[in-house]
Amino acid sequence: MFIVFIGPPGVGKGTQANMLAAKYPMVKISTGDLLREAIKEKTVLGERAKSFMERGELVPDALVIDLVNEKVTGTPKTTNSFIFDGFPRTIEQAKELDHLLATKGVQISMAIDFSMDEEERVSRLSGRRMCPKCQRTYHIRFAKPKNDNLCDVCNVPLIQRSDDDEAVIRQRSSVYWDLTRPLLDFYRQRNLLQTIDASRSIDLVFKDLDKLVSKIK
Ligand code: AP5
Ligand code: ZN
Repeated sequence: MFIVFIGPPGVGKGTQANMLAAKYPMVKISTGDLLREAIKEKTVLGERAKSFMERGELVPDALVIDLVNEKVTGTPKTTNSFIFDGFPRTIEQAKELDHLLATKGVQISMAIDFSMDEEERVSRLSGRRMCPKCQRTYHIRFAKPKNDNLCDVCNVPLIQRSDDDEAVIRQRSSVYWDLTRPLLDFYRQRNLLQTIDASRSIDLVFKDLDKLVSKIK
């Protein structure tokens, strides 16, 4: 099963991808997480990606495609279910993903469009907190950690993502409209697109997602 999550910043893709990967034997590939990890590790890729991410721009396709390629081919052959969270984000990336999957004799099972109003997304992101160690995300109101401002798993203080500054969030949204939204047609034309109203509670959104995914199996 190969599922693609598409949606603007703050819509809840990462939250839902983690819930899905906890329920089913699926590997989550989040390019945002992988890039933040590369920046933290100060790899060559991380150094090249950093300024794009800080400005809210997309990291160049070639870098992201290499990263996903490496991750998919590095996963044991017994794993054949993936959630792509935040990838592809351009038509070029979508074509490359098709190509990569074709070399494995498989194809995308479903693309899910998470949709929601911009103002509410900005407010979600301003309350987001992240564990600097495991990248688990929390929210000061909607997904609180068990202990005040500490990661439930790592017990370290939570931080705010540097690109969760309002001006950068707006820039990320505008990039989404220009470069990523055309992907909806790309998948709609192939009858692979499903839409989820992401404005409801985390559990209600997951119920819809689970229903869609269980139809695939
Ligand atoms: P990335 O990390 O992918 O960021 P994004 O797409 O902007 O998405 P977010 O992580 O901001 O939001 P989300 O939808 O995952 O929401 P979340 O679940 O956290 O990318 C960052 C950057 O990396 C990009 O700007 C780009 O530079 C680069 N990049 C990444 N992939 C790339 C690619 N393929 N190509 C090129 N560049 C790439 O939820 C948000 C908050 O709301 C959380 O606090 C959460 O707890 C809370 N929440 C979630 N759901 C709900 C709900 N239903 N109700 C209430 N609160 C909720
Ligand atoms: Zn943690």
